[in-house]
Amino acid sequence: MSDDHTKTAPALRARAPSTRYIEVISPGRPSPFRAREGVVRLGRDPGNEVVIEDPFVSRVHVEVRIFPHGVEVVDLDTKNGTHYQGARIRELAVKDEVTLTLGKQVTVRVRVGDDGASSSRDSRDAAELVGASAPMQRLRGALAKLAPSALTVLIEGETGTGKEVVARSLHTLSGRAHKPFVVFDCAAVAPTLIASELFGHVKGAYTGAVGASDGAFRAAHGGTLFLDEIGELPLELQPALLRALEARQVKPVGGDQYVKVDVRVVAATNRTLEDEVEAGRFRKDLVFRLAVGRVKVPSLRARADDVPALAAHFAASFGATLAPPVLAALAARPWPGNVRELRNVVERTVMLAGGGGSVVTSLDDGDDDLDDAPPASVAPAEALLGAMRSSEGLRLLEMSFQDAKQAAVETFEREYLLRLFEASGHNLSEAGRRSGVDRRYLRELFKKHDIDLAAMRAKKP
Ligand SMILES: Nc1ncnc2c1ncn2[C@@H]1O[C@H](COP(=O)(O)OP(=O)(O)OP(=O)(O)O)[C@@H](O)[C@H]1O
Ligand SMILES: [Mg+2]
Repeated sequence: MSDDHTKTAPALRARAPSTRYIEVISPGRPSPFRAREGVVRLGRDPGNEVVIEDPFVSRVHVEVRIFPHGVEVVDLDTKNGTHYQGARIRELAVKDEVTLTLGKQVTVRVRVGDDGASSSRDSRDAAELVGASAPMQRLRGALAKLAPSALTVLIEGETGTGKEVVARSLHTLSGRAHKPFVVFDCAAVAPTLIASELFGHVKGAYTGAVGASDGAFRAAHGGTLFLDEIGELPLELQPALLRALEARQVKPVGGDQYVKVDVRVVAATNRTLEDEVEAGRFRKDLVFRLAVGRVKVPSLRARADDVPALAAHFAASFGATLAPPVLAALAARPWPGNVRELRNVVERTVMLAGGGGSVVTSLDDGDDDLDDAPPASVAPAEALLGAMRSSEGLRLLEMSFQDAKQAAVETFEREYLLRLFEASGHNLSEAGRRSGVDRRYLRELFKKHDIDLAAMRAKKP
């Protein structure tokens, strides 16, 4: 097959020549779209790599992300969703081939092929979890022990520490590796829809339930279901999850029969579930069920030794090399946003130094407080200046410069986030794209400012 459809997203140039490729087979294209690296976007917009002309498909609907260690399909918070075996999915790891429904009626196939020697499983896993520090070695040991069993595992750790990477390696190291790895983000789905998205629903179960759907549990049959942000699961849904874990069966919404499922559940949280129990937001018996195996992903502070290796790894994935002084400067930072923050800083530094192929010799040393804040746009900046000039502004002079600056940054962040979310059609992924801030970090920022995305969506005209 010719390579003329191969396109590379500039931000994700991988360095090592890969023999793996992906193909997207979609309606309206005489031959499949092929790519070896980067991100392939599918949607209605003519700017997508794969254009799909259908009224129920979003402008940019899904991304197929090609990583050194695997291929992932991500739904970009679309209105009509992306379905796999009847279940609405947010992210799905593609092993060999999947058939997806975009919107209401478009079927596409994503296939992973290899036209060279295939890499061994060991080297793939090594590429996934970078870090040789003592805490990482302990973590690897724990994962190697837990992976082959079907035990439910709870992964704890601060934001950005790599909980999802850990969940994925539990899957790839298990006997289920050739079956689906399904990600279900409890924080990303409206609480009223979680039950049907998890357990499926029968035809006509509720207004709008046109056909039947399998739900995430059944979509993960034979494989692993990763329940992300489990701390966000509403209390009233917890008994049904408990039952699914105990009896390995689920009852679709609107149905009266239980259906057997063979699924290994891995859950993650950046909260302490015991505290949630204490606060009356989480069932104690569910904590026991989820935490049969329990691993804690260390913060990057606790393994600063790993910073240079991680930074070099990310730089290489963007096609660049970092000079030793840059690595040293990165290692000296505190990294409250952990590995994700490090990755973002490396990406930005590489881009500012001219992108892939370069040796980066200096660090883009922005104000630390603002490192991951979105860049200022004119409107909120003016709003902020307006507020400073008003009587509000006078109060700033009662504070120290540091405190006033902090307050101003907080105000700016909040204003920016509110406008950003609205301007992005209340779509978190779109907001991430516009602002250049990782979607998950954005969600943290919204949380920090107590901005209720669901309420904003509900109010939208
Ligand atoms: N040990 C690691 N080796 C290589 N990459 C890593 C490692 N840990 C994390 N990453 C990368 O850092 C980023 C954040 O990781 P991940 O999404 O797994 O974090 P998380 O703990 O799930 O964060 P959150 O709580 O915000 O959801 C990802 O791009 C991931 O690939
Ligand atoms: Mg996560």
